[in-house]
Amino acid sequence: MSTLLDMPVQVWQDAVEVPQDPPPQLNAENHRSRAALERILKDPFDDAAWADLVRTYDEMAPEWTDWAKDQHWYAAPVSVGLAHIRPVPWIVEVGCGTGQATLVLSKAGPPVLATDVNESMLTGAPCLPQTHYLAADVRRLPFRDGSVPLLVGLNGVPHLHEFTRVLAPGGQLLWCTSFGAGTPLYVHPDRLADMLGPEWTTRAGRAGHGEWLLATHNA
Ligand SMILES: C[S@@+](CC[C@H](N)C(=O)[O-])C[C@H]1O[C@@H](n2cnc3c(N)ncnc32)[C@H](O)[C@@H]1O
Repeated sequence: MSTLLDMPVQVWQDAVEVPQDPPPQLNAENHRSRAALERILKDPFDDAAWADLVRTYDEMAPEWTDWAKDQHWYAAPVSVGLAHIRPVPWIVEVGCGTGQATLVLSKAGPPVLATDVNESMLTGAPCLPQTHYLAADVRRLPFRDGSVPLLVGLNGVPHLHEFTRVLAPGGQLLWCTSFGAGTPLYVHPDRLADMLGPEWTTRAGRAGHGEWLLATHNA
């Protein structure tokens, strides 16, 4: 098995604009959701860790929009990462929260289906053209095997088994964080690429305070 040190180095794109304002200090490494995420990365079927995450963000939902709207570079990795995708007929977003990345996706052109397990988050999301919201758990996405052309997540929890199940041949996964390692739900792009394995071609980059990874399944 390859490690972070000996794996093939993926293409990293430099950030086009570097923000003047510093990122928020979220104490990411000690954040409750980071511990749950690490448990999930070790065992994607750790139901207690998943339940902890669902509860954590359900509790945060009432303040989420207000908090996120003050972060000016919040969705920059999604905008920049989108510029690298192959055109798709529709887009699925996972863990959409109150819609900060959804807003960017809704302007990209194809229809968007934005999903989150917490209805408390979805009720705070904006009405957007060509965009529908759906309550769905990322572990059990309501899509047929091999049917989704593009999955997008910003500051979400990856479930690679499920992503691999629903993605179409040649499907794309755009995985972003707003603050890189300063994001509580953070997986380094190289680590995620390593977890995905050799059937995927990846490239990554920085944007705003964050990072993006675009992984394309080799059809
Ligand atoms: C850190 S928030 C990110 C929200 C939004 N994407 C953003 O960047 O503002 C993580 C999101 O993942 C959602 N989430 C947690 N567990 C989930 C699960 N099992 N399935 C789907 N979404 C989940 C939470 O409800 C929350 O909205």
